[in-house]
Amino acid sequence: MMTDGALDLPRIVILISGTGSNMVAIADAIKDGAMDAMVAGVICNRPDAPGMQYARDRDIPVELVDHKAFDSREEFDVALMRAIDDFAPDLVVLAGFMRILTPEFTRHYHGRMINIHPSLLPKYQGLNTHQRAIDAGDSEHGVSVHFVTEELDGGPVIAQAIVPVTADDSADSLKGKVQKQEHILYPIVVKWFIQGRLGMNSDGATIDGKPIPQFGLKLTDQ
Ligand code: GAR
Repeated sequence: MMTDGALDLPRIVILISGTGSNMVAIADAIKDGAMDAMVAGVICNRPDAPGMQYARDRDIPVELVDHKAFDSREEFDVALMRAIDDFAPDLVVLAGFMRILTPEFTRHYHGRMINIHPSLLPKYQGLNTHQRAIDAGDSEHGVSVHFVTEELDGGPVIAQAIVPVTADDSADSLKGKVQKQEHILYPIVVKWFIQGRLGMNSDGATIDGKPIPQFGLKLTDQ
């Protein structure tokens, strides 16, 4: 009898709104054998997002759930939940998914949804993080991966990567430095989750049952 090995693999659904370079980094890490998992589907909320084609190029099923087709945030989130759950994911990965989520949505994926944010959280929640780091005169900036909770960009931090801010940095150059680190960090955190190493309790995130410090693990820690 033929068996499909993919049926046994942990399933990841990735949500994107734009370029999808983090989605590509995760999909390519899986293809290169970095972890035993599959990207079951990519869901996008913008019809013009280039990332949808990058997913199709990798034979990943893609679904568009256009937020503009819904009258309210609540209705959109219900449709989004349906689309995600149709893929039966073990992990939901937000990768540049630029939507504010309803509490019902975040509760539904409690402990199994992660996000990447381009700042050293809790600094600079929200938008324009690179310019804000420059304006503040920070010498360090970076990226955080965190569990998603009801608080926007506020769930327990799992890991961070730090980049130096130099005098000649613009928001664009800093974004380039940060994205380079994102593409290394995100596949590693996804792998930790898939390996069953990550958890979340009322005190924050855990790895191997031990508490993760407030500002997350640094890549050199593991
Ligand atoms: C990434 O830099 C990610 O950190 C950021 O959007 C970009 C998406 O890039 N996410 C946020 O700002 C979330 N608050 P990508 O589409 O090329 O992966």
